[in-house]
Amino acid sequence: MTAQTDTQAPDPVSSDETRRVKLAPSILSCDFTRLGEEMQAIAGADWAHVDVMDGAFVPNISFGMPILAAARRASNLPLDVHLMIERPERYLKDFAAAGADSITVHVESTPHIHRAVQQIRELGKRAGVTLNPGTPLEAVRPLLADVDVVLVMSVNPGFGGQKFIPASLDRIRTLRRWLDEAGSGAELQVDGGVSPTNARAVVSAGATVLVAGSAVFGKDGAGAGLERLREALK
Ligand code: DX5
Ligand code: ZN
Repeated sequence: MTAQTDTQAPDPVSSDETRRVKLAPSILSCDFTRLGEEMQAIAGADWAHVDVMDGAFVPNISFGMPILAAARRASNLPLDVHLMIERPERYLKDFAAAGADSITVHVESTPHIHRAVQQIRELGKRAGVTLNPGTPLEAVRPLLADVDVVLVMSVNPGFGGQKFIPASLDRIRTLRRWLDEAGSGAELQVDGGVSPTNARAVVSAGATVLVAGSAVFGKDGAGAGLERLREALK
């Protein structure tokens, strides 16, 4: 790259890019005694992220269809379901019926990841694929043409409130390049440890959807948490 090109290069987080970025609060960190109010508090977000954990694929159990259905009744936001469960194809229909708008499955969770992605699309939902921080990116490469969302896990899945793994930034950049080279319009989502401190770097690396749990559902309420994230992206 020439020096001239450098000086002409736009700010990596241009205002256009900032407008495009979607925020997806993870309800795993919300107060479940007030799920309806919490869903209202994030009404200004773009998607609501719903983390389903089975205690087998990840070392934690969260919740399943009944909570998803309750969130559906309480909100008009698109519900973005992240399945951290073994053999997710067993339950895709149920999560679709309970109100999911998009369903994301892990490459490590089934030997038939491509079939799972096809099934999600056949159900008329946005299909997402994701991988753990220790899984080589090549594992998702054959799927890029057939998904609507690629999710980069920036923590080891299982718990909210963990620290962002810095090496995730390079993984986001690589996936950005692969998606662009393929002319794919899939969303590039990032999940785990996203906060006002690193949100801008994550978007500069190429993310289009930020998931945030503990950074949104803080002591001063989800509205304020969302606002802090938006400010950080300005
Ligand atoms: C982790 C989940 C995340 C989690 C994010 O297994 O997939 O969606 O809720 O929480 P924070 O933003 O607190 O890292
Ligand atoms: Zn998640």
